[in-house]
Amino acid sequence: MMSKVIIKNSAQIEKMRIAGKIAAEVIEMIAPYVKAGVTTQELDDIMLKFIEEDRHAISACLGYHGYPKCTCISVNEVVCHGIPGNHKLHNGDIVNIDVTVIKDGMHGDTSKMFIVGQTSPRNHQLVKVTQEALYAAIRAMGPNRNLVEAGRVIQQIANANNFSVVRDYCGHGIGEGFHEEPQVVHYYPNPYSLILKPGMTFTIEPMLNAGTWKVKINHKDGWTVTTADKQPSAQFEHTILITETGCEVLTLRAEEEETLGRYITCK
Ligand code: MF3
Ligand code: CO
Ligand code: CO
Repeated sequence: MMSKVIIKNSAQIEKMRIAGKIAAEVIEMIAPYVKAGVTTQELDDIMLKFIEEDRHAISACLGYHGYPKCTCISVNEVVCHGIPGNHKLHNGDIVNIDVTVIKDGMHGDTSKMFIVGQTSPRNHQLVKVTQEALYAAIRAMGPNRNLVEAGRVIQQIANANNFSVVRDYCGHGIGEGFHEEPQVVHYYPNPYSLILKPGMTFTIEPMLNAGTWKVKINHKDGWTVTTADKQPSAQFEHTILITETGCEVLTLRAEEEETLGRYITCK
């Protein structure tokens, strides 16, 4: 079958750098507000105002297939697509904030876990291992590498720590479209072989669970995904560009300059 993966040109890549930077800045901006007592709606309001008024960008989520809010905020057993609302954050919660913006026609998509106050050692480990799994997958991406390597390294790190990998949601190509080809699956083995080429842009966004990989959709709101066993889940996400030598992290935050870095030479 012919690949429909879009290779971005240098003008498109420059716009994606800008969109990616804005998405990263939203996460950096909201960090000091993620505290016990705040509602997820209050956080969403602050991020919407920042995206629209400060960065003159658009939330890609708001109105996407009818999604009602600007961001996704997923607490504890919520795997992804948590809808901001009057729910208050509590000490010990682990919280994913997922931001996707459109700037000048291009998308940037990223998410990060926050820990509210003090949490359990197992929750800490889940958050840390999920971030390490994302970083290891990013470091394996480069020209002429196979996309299945992302799932392989993520599954290996999850297994080594007794966590499971969510199978029902995946990363995705991104650009003018929010969700383009290819699908980026985070488990292994998987049949989604694809040789990577410079100019491809996609997200990697592993979701790791403390218990089962199985998930459930909330049929009342049609969006909220929780673990089937109500054990906690963690996720981190970056948008990356395949370069001539490795990859570039388009949604890098300042705090990651030392630990990950923007330009990654494939091992
Ligand atoms: N940002 C999510 C992703 O990483 C998608 C959210 S779609 C929404 O792909 F409609 F739920 F916002
Ligand atoms: Co995404
Ligand atoms: Co996202």
